[in-house]
Amino acid sequence: MRLLTPIAALLAAHGASAQLHRLAAAAGKMYFGSATDNGELNDAAYVRILTDPNEFGQTTPGNGQKWQFTQPSRGSFSYSSGDQIANFAKTNNMILRCHTLVWHSQLPSWVSSGSWTKEQLTSIIETHIANVAGHYRGQCYAWDVVNEALNEDGTFRTSVFYTVLGESFIPIAFKAAAAADPDAKLYYNDYNIESTGAKQAATLRIIDSIKRAGGRIDGVGMQAHLIVGSTPSQSSLEAAMNSYVAAGISEVAYTELDIRFRSLPPTAAGLRTQADDYATVTRACLAVDACVGITIWDFTDKYSWIPNTFPGQGAALLYDENFSKKPAWTAVSSVLAAAATGGPGPSTTLTTVTTTTRTGAPGPTCTAAKWGKQYFELFLTLRFLPSTRA
Ligand code: XIL
Repeated sequence: MRLLTPIAALLAAHGASAQLHRLAAAAGKMYFGSATDNGELNDAAYVRILTDPNEFGQTTPGNGQKWQFTQPSRGSFSYSSGDQIANFAKTNNMILRCHTLVWHSQLPSWVSSGSWTKEQLTSIIETHIANVAGHYRGQCYAWDVVNEALNEDGTFRTSVFYTVLGESFIPIAFKAAAAADPDAKLYYNDYNIESTGAKQAATLRIIDSIKRAGGRIDGVGMQAHLIVGSTPSQSSLEAAMNSYVAAGISEVAYTELDIRFRSLPPTAAGLRTQADDYATVTRACLAVDACVGITIWDFTDKYSWIPNTFPGQGAALLYDENFSKKPAWTAVSSVLAAAATGGPGPSTTLTTVTTTTRTGAPGPTCTAAKWGKQYFELFLTLRFLPSTRA
């Protein structure tokens, strides 16, 4: 057991406070992570936070592995954008979630506008996956093999894949991914499948159809692009995750979490509601063993995708545009700290955690036994420190 560094030294060493991944690992989760993108990696202040091993232990490329970038024209593969993020993850000992192989969006028109026979499109999918997942073989903890195949009512979304192949495009993709990267966890990933309903029920049917076709699916990724004040209840979040596990997959994850305001700027009360919503999602993941981790879809409002896609909306992440932590950060950190110590929720804002160097990606098994006492001591100490945040 490592001894606690004196608290003053910890505060000084960390300029206060990065800790989300370390606390998540101490609570028995595999990671707390953030998506990133190529352009942002030129922003030194941004990179400092993303590479803090206490704060983030996992990353996902926001764009670089999508079909549009990896096979922009037929037979011509390009990995420069995806490789930059994969190498960044490796250099910083972060778990890499890979995203995504078959998706109707950001799909080059040579695929979406072609008129294909079943055999031709099957071969196009298999070739794409053999190349892209083959290129990243051994580097991805998980692949989002198929992304967003469903409509809100649980029917299949219209896409070139569904139009030509029907739902069989899904097992075709999962079998190709299993062959190309046998060690990667294979996920179905979608939004609005975080709580029970038509789309969650359809996700269960997808799991079943992959298995019936003799394919392998390991996980369900719940994107969790949520809205402040409309986040599902913890019990509904847990029920959805438990339903996926009951359908025979081994893990689930929140893969693209952000909780946006429908109108801006947020009020102080709105920021507190957002904090509660983030706490709810964090608690749900902690309550379900199969939930391996949480990825936020970037960590700062400076680089969120929301304002581009939902004009007038935003402020969805844990850090604001100037890299200041929002109440939602404090809420997530406090929920994780309470779980890490096994204690009651902290009564004051936690502001730091032990210094550590990243020695490698933490394993999936519970590290709480190793770290628990240390965190409990830290927790007790911090309870008697004045809060440094309003
Ligand atoms: C988004 C990226 O963040 C944007 O930069 C890009 O312009 C559009 O795609 N669901 C997904 C992600 O699975 O790939 C999307 O990412 C967000 C919604």
